[in-house]
Amino acid sequence: MRVLLIGFGVVGQSFAELVDSEASALAQNYGLRPKIVGVVDSKGAVLSPNGIDLKKALTYKRESGSLERFGDGTYLRGRTGLDAIKEVDCEVVVEATPTDLKKGEPGLSHLKAAMKEGRHIVCTNKGPLAVAMPALIELASHNKIMFKFSGTVGGGTPVLDFAKKCLEGSQIRSISGILNGTTNYILSKMSSEGSRMKDALAEAQRLGYAEADPTYDVGGFDTACKLVIISNYVLGSSLSLGDVKVKGISDVATEDIERAKAKGQTVKLIGRMDKRPRVGPEEIPVTHPLNVSGTFNAFSFDTHPAGEITLVGKGAGGKETASSVIRDLIEIRRTFAR
Ligand SMILES: NC(=O)c1ccc[n+]([C@@H]2O[C@H](COP(=O)([O-])OP(=O)(O)OC[C@H]3O[C@@H](n4cnc5c(N)ncnc54)[C@H](OP(=O)(O)O)[C@@H]3O)[C@@H](O)[C@H]2O)c1
Repeated sequence: MRVLLIGFGVVGQSFAELVDSEASALAQNYGLRPKIVGVVDSKGAVLSPNGIDLKKALTYKRESGSLERFGDGTYLRGRTGLDAIKEVDCEVVVEATPTDLKKGEPGLSHLKAAMKEGRHIVCTNKGPLAVAMPALIELASHNKIMFKFSGTVGGGTPVLDFAKKCLEGSQIRSISGILNGTTNYILSKMSSEGSRMKDALAEAQRLGYAEADPTYDVGGFDTACKLVIISNYVLGSSLSLGDVKVKGISDVATEDIERAKAKGQTVKLIGRMDKRPRVGPEEIPVTHPLNVSGTFNAFSFDTHPAGEITLVGKGAGGKETASSVIRDLIEIRRTFAR
């Protein structure tokens, strides 16, 4: 399986590392032999039809922040993802560029171009899905390609396919969850140590859980984006980010958390899809299965007739998200290697 990798940051590098270190297990257990024939970052691309030496790619990128050391002929400065999609002969495009929730770019253009070229897609970037998920699913079906995006929700926790496949036969009446590890870390810290919001946020930034501009997480938009993806995928809705009522956690004070505690409750940022999609801080009982701490995510499905089913796992991380890319590749291989 020839793979073009667009985006060689935390997720892209972890994916390359897994492909390299797990090559024989993947081949033996799943018949999956991914050959990475192109790697694109923001400055250029390395293209090689016979497969790129992944150890070299990882070393060069980590040491110099660039793939230029591959040298003339193999490294193509200024070559973009769109160029590579047209030029490279491959079966699958893995899209792992940064998330942009306003226009979905550059991922949206990459996905559309790859679909038009008949490439299967594995995407970890939420941006294009937040902006245009229904249209992308239609375009994928029109072009008869597989469009997988397990890593966009839950990192390595297989929540999308868990709900879609393992809950088959049950009616899913509603979905609720803690979909963002950064805000959960902040609220957990405020609850367990009595920290103020600004101190807990500063700590999250110091540990690399929160960006310098934390609006995306703290404002609830990351949670909303994931709610859109899970709801469209699992419930068949046609939501975009604008359909979700969003309130972040910036107004939550230590006093609110203390008041909740006195009632046996805790405050969490919850994404909820029942009659309408919404995101906001809510009080839940401390005994509730969604009460997970630190950077964990939790997803709860109210099902008929099986009742409430909750899945808990790490919501992000390079290795974890790369493992979801591998899962998606295995499914693509299974579906098309007949
Ligand atoms: N990290 C996680 O735990 C995690 C978990 C789930 C989902 N995700 C999502 O997965 C995606 C990748 O995350 P990440 O953490 O790997 O991000 P990252 O570390 O910032 O890496 C992004 C990569 O994309 C490249 N890039 C930027 N603009 C590009 C363009 N126009 N064309 C081609 N490449 C471009 C960057 O190039 P340079 O190297 O040249 O800067 C970099 O290699 C994001 O959408 C993120 O939200 C991440």
